[in-house]
Amino acid sequence: MHLLLLNGPNLNLLGQREPGLYGHQTLVQIEMALCERAAADGLKLDCFQSNFEGALVERIHQAMGQVDGILINAGAYTHTSIAIRDALLGTAIPYVELHLSNTHAREPFRHRSFLADRAIGVITGFGPTSYDLALEGLVRHLRKSVLGGEG
Ligand code: DQA
Repeated sequence: MHLLLLNGPNLNLLGQREPGLYGHQTLVQIEMALCERAAADGLKLDCFQSNFEGALVERIHQAMGQVDGILINAGAYTHTSIAIRDALLGTAIPYVELHLSNTHAREPFRHRSFLADRAIGVITGFGPTSYDLALEGLVRHLRKSVLGGEG
Protein backbone atom coordinates (compact mmCIF):
# COMPACT_ATOMS: atom_id res chain seq x y z
CA MET A 1 0.00 0.00 0.00
CA HIS A 2 1.35 3.39 -1.04
CA LEU A 3 0.36 6.48 0.96
CA LEU A 4 1.11 10.21 0.78
CA LEU A 5 1.40 12.68 3.66
CA LEU A 6 0.74 16.29 2.66
CA ASN A 7 1.46 19.30 4.86
CA GLY A 8 0.45 22.81 3.93
CA PRO A 9 1.67 26.33 4.74
CA ASN A 10 3.68 27.15 7.85
CA LEU A 11 3.93 23.54 8.96
CA ASN A 12 7.61 23.66 7.98
CA LEU A 13 7.96 25.93 11.05
CA LEU A 14 6.80 23.27 13.51
CA GLY A 15 9.05 23.18 16.55
CA GLN A 16 9.49 26.97 16.47
CA ARG A 17 5.97 28.06 15.59
CA GLU A 18 3.64 28.77 18.56
CA PRO A 19 4.92 25.75 20.53
CA GLY A 20 2.17 26.17 23.15
CA LEU A 21 -0.31 25.35 20.41
CA TYR A 22 1.62 23.06 18.07
CA GLY A 23 4.25 21.45 20.31
CA HIS A 24 8.02 21.15 20.07
CA GLN A 25 8.45 18.46 17.45
CA THR A 26 9.68 19.52 14.03
CA LEU A 27 7.94 18.42 10.86
CA VAL A 28 10.98 16.35 9.90
CA GLN A 29 10.77 14.50 13.23
CA ILE A 30 7.04 13.87 12.74
CA GLU A 31 7.59 12.68 9.16
CA MET A 32 10.47 10.38 10.11
CA ALA A 33 8.52 8.78 12.96
CA LEU A 34 5.49 8.25 10.72
CA CYS A 35 7.62 6.75 7.92
CA GLU A 36 9.10 4.30 10.46
CA ARG A 37 5.63 3.32 11.66
CA ALA A 38 4.43 2.90 8.10
CA ALA A 39 7.47 0.83 7.08
CA ALA A 40 7.04 -1.44 10.13
CA ASP A 41 3.53 -2.13 8.85
CA GLY A 42 4.75 -2.83 5.29
CA LEU A 43 3.50 0.50 3.91
CA LYS A 44 5.28 2.99 1.69
CA LEU A 45 4.78 6.60 2.80
CA ASP A 46 5.87 9.66 0.81
CA CYS A 47 5.95 13.09 2.47
CA PHE A 48 5.51 16.51 0.88
CA GLN A 49 5.19 19.98 2.42
CA SER A 50 4.59 23.25 0.62
CA ASN A 51 3.63 26.81 1.46
CA PHE A 52 2.07 27.15 -2.01
CA GLU A 53 -1.47 26.12 -2.84
CA GLY A 54 -0.64 25.28 -6.48
CA ALA A 55 2.26 23.05 -5.46
CA LEU A 56 -0.06 21.06 -3.20
CA VAL A 57 -2.59 20.78 -6.04
CA GLU A 58 0.16 19.55 -8.40
CA ARG A 59 1.37 16.97 -5.87
CA ILE A 60 -2.17 15.64 -5.50
CA HIS A 61 -2.45 15.34 -9.31
CA GLN A 62 0.87 13.44 -9.42
CA ALA A 63 -0.48 11.01 -6.86
CA MET A 64 -3.30 9.91 -9.20
CA GLY A 65 -2.93 6.23 -10.02
CA GLN A 66 0.17 6.03 -7.80
CA VAL A 67 -1.15 6.43 -4.29
CA ASP A 68 -3.87 4.51 -2.42
CA GLY A 69 -4.60 7.13 0.22
CA ILE A 70 -3.65 10.62 1.41
CA LEU A 71 -3.13 12.09 4.89
CA ILE A 72 -3.51 15.85 4.69
CA ASN A 73 -2.86 18.68 7.11
CA ALA A 74 -3.59 21.54 4.75
CA GLY A 75 -2.93 24.14 7.47
CA ALA A 76 -4.76 27.41 6.78
CA TYR A 77 -5.72 26.19 3.28
CA THR A 78 -8.14 23.84 5.03
CA HIS A 79 -10.34 26.84 5.68
CA THR A 80 -9.96 28.57 2.31
CA SER A 81 -8.99 26.26 -0.54
CA ILE A 82 -11.59 25.09 -3.01
CA ALA A 83 -8.64 24.26 -5.32
CA ILE A 84 -7.24 21.65 -2.90
CA ARG A 85 -10.74 20.24 -2.34
CA ASP A 86 -11.24 19.96 -6.11
CA ALA A 87 -7.85 18.28 -6.57
CA LEU A 88 -8.67 15.68 -3.92
CA LEU A 89 -12.12 15.02 -5.35
CA GLY A 90 -10.82 15.12 -8.93
CA THR A 91 -8.27 12.41 -8.30
CA ALA A 92 -10.76 10.46 -6.16
CA ILE A 93 -7.98 9.36 -3.80
CA PRO A 94 -9.42 8.59 -0.34
CA TYR A 95 -8.07 10.98 2.28
CA VAL A 96 -8.02 11.75 6.00
CA GLU A 97 -7.90 15.39 7.15
CA LEU A 98 -5.82 16.04 10.24
CA HIS A 99 -4.76 18.88 12.50
CA LEU A 100 -2.41 19.19 15.45
CA SER A 101 -4.63 21.66 17.27
CA ASN A 102 -8.35 21.31 17.91
CA THR A 103 -9.57 23.68 15.22
CA HIS A 104 -13.09 23.66 16.72
CA ALA A 105 -11.77 25.08 20.00
CA ARG A 106 -10.14 28.01 18.19
CA GLU A 107 -11.30 31.04 16.17
CA PRO A 108 -14.62 30.63 14.30
CA PHE A 109 -12.88 30.93 10.90
CA ARG A 110 -11.03 27.67 11.70
CA HIS A 111 -14.29 25.80 12.28
CA ARG A 112 -15.01 25.64 8.56
CA SER A 113 -13.17 23.09 6.43
CA PHE A 114 -13.44 22.74 2.67
CA LEU A 115 -12.09 19.19 2.93
CA ALA A 116 -13.90 17.57 5.87
CA ASP A 117 -17.23 16.58 4.34
CA ARG A 118 -15.60 14.38 1.70
CA ALA A 119 -12.84 12.97 3.91
CA ILE A 120 -12.94 9.42 5.26
CA GLY A 121 -12.60 11.13 8.63
CA VAL A 122 -11.05 14.05 10.46
CA ILE A 123 -8.54 13.90 13.34
CA THR A 124 -8.01 17.16 15.19
CA GLY A 125 -6.41 18.23 18.45
CA PHE A 126 -4.00 15.45 19.44
CA GLY A 127 -0.75 17.24 18.62
CA PRO A 128 1.74 15.08 16.70
CA THR A 129 -0.32 12.02 17.71
CA SER A 130 -2.94 13.25 15.21
CA TYR A 131 -0.59 12.00 12.47
CA ASP A 132 -0.43 8.50 14.02
CA LEU A 133 -4.19 8.34 14.49
CA ALA A 134 -4.83 9.54 10.95
CA LEU A 135 -2.46 6.89 9.57
CA GLU A 136 -4.17 4.20 11.61
CA GLY A 137 -7.63 5.32 10.43
CA LEU A 138 -6.64 5.57 6.78
CA VAL A 139 -4.95 2.17 6.70
CA ARG A 140 -7.83 0.44 8.48
CA HIS A 141 -10.28 2.03 6.04
CA LEU A 142 -8.25 1.03 2.98
CA ARG A 143 -7.69 -2.55 4.19
CA LYS A 144 -11.40 -2.90 4.90
CA SER A 145 -12.22 -1.64 1.37
CA VAL A 146 -9.81 -4.13 -0.20
CA LEU A 147 -11.29 -6.98 1.84
CA GLY A 148 -14.80 -5.94 0.82
CA GLY A 149 -15.84 -4.83 4.27
CA GLU A 150 -14.57 -7.92 6.10
CA GLY A 151 -11.40 -6.43 7.61
C1 DQA B 1 -3.55 23.48 11.68
C2 DQA B 1 -4.77 24.32 12.06
C3 DQA B 1 -4.98 25.43 11.05
O1 DQA B 1 -6.11 26.21 11.41
C4 DQA B 1 -3.77 26.34 11.00
O2 DQA B 1 -3.94 27.32 10.00
C5 DQA B 1 -2.50 25.58 10.79
C6 DQA B 1 -2.30 24.34 11.53
C7 DQA B 1 -3.23 22.40 12.75
O3 DQA B 1 -2.54 21.46 12.42
O4 DQA B 1 -3.65 22.55 13.90
O5 DQA B 1 -1.61 26.02 10.08
O6 DQA B 1 -3.82 22.80 10.47
